[in-house]
Parts: sequence; structure tokens; C-alpha cells
Amino acid sequence: MESLEGKPLDALDSESKYLIHKAKEATAHAYAPYSKFCVGAAVVLDDGTVVTGSNQENASYPLCMCAERVALYAVSALHPDKVILKMAVVAHKKNHKELVSATSCGACRQVMVEYEERQKKPIKVIMLGPSEKWLEFPSAGTLMPFSFDKKSLL
Ligand code: THU
Repeated sequence: MESLEGKPLDALDSESKYLIHKAKEATAHAYAPYSKFCVGAAVVLDDGTVVTGSNQENASYPLCMCAERVALYAVSALHPDKVILKMAVVAHKKNHKELVSATSCGACRQVMVEYEERQKKPIKVIMLGPSEKWLEFPSAGTLMPFSFDKKSLL
């Protein structure tokens, strides 16, 4: 795994920079009137298609859906046979332009891991950590050790 100290944006590869840009664009479609915390996620598929998601909240708070899962479920719905190569996650507070730390919640990590298991290929994850440094992970599994999986159900 890469250093958890993270990297400045300039040090990232061009694909990651582009995905971050798409994730940032996706925050414009966040529906976050309650938290005012706008999250965007962008994934790139094995044919170069980029699919984005943003958080979608509800007055019944537990129904809020994170940006990461919106993006992943959209991939299943629209591109079921393609492989997800990488995901970028960003966030900002409404009306603030600068990005803030957006380290995916445990529920999203659990879902990412199941996508990885389904496609039998790792999903690289990039997210903004503390101190304005980008954290890169080689797979969702590295973000969620000992995740629950279907083996327990057999
Ligand atoms: N949120 C995400 O979209 N992704 C995460 O990984 C963590 C939190 C959203 C959910 C909610 O709409 C808002 O951020 C505040 O928790």
C-alpha cells in the first residue's frame, strides 16, 4: 500500500486527476439540504466510461444515500458487464469551493468490497485525506479488512 501520508494533487497520475475533476463536478448534483455536505464520486470502467454519483438525502435521515453507493449502483444498472478500475471521492461544504477530507464511510467501503469480489478485480480508491493530501489505495479491500462477505452465509 502507498504511504498514508498522501500526495499533493500535482503528484497524482492524469487519470486520477481527471476522475477527481469528474467527482468534483458531480458534487453539483448532490442533494444535501440537511447536512450541507456535498459529496461526489467518479468511477472509471475498463472501457474508459466514467460514471459519477453524488449524495442524495431525505427528510427521513436514515434514507440518505452516499455518493459512492449512488455511483456503484449506477454502474450495476447501466454497465453490468464492465469492470470498475478506480474510484475518486471528494466533498465540500455547500457554498465553499475548497474540498474537504472525504474518507468513505464504512457502509460504502463494505459495498465497494463486494463489487471487487463480484468483478474479481481490485478497485483502486483515491480520496482526500486530512492535511489536503490525496490518499491512494490499491483496492477497496485494503480499506475494509475483515469485511463481511457471502462466505459467512453459505
Ligand atoms: N456521505 C457520502 O456521500 N459518502 C460518505 O462516504 C460519507 C458521507 C454523505 C451522506 C450524507 O448525505 C452526508 O455525506 C453527511 O454525512
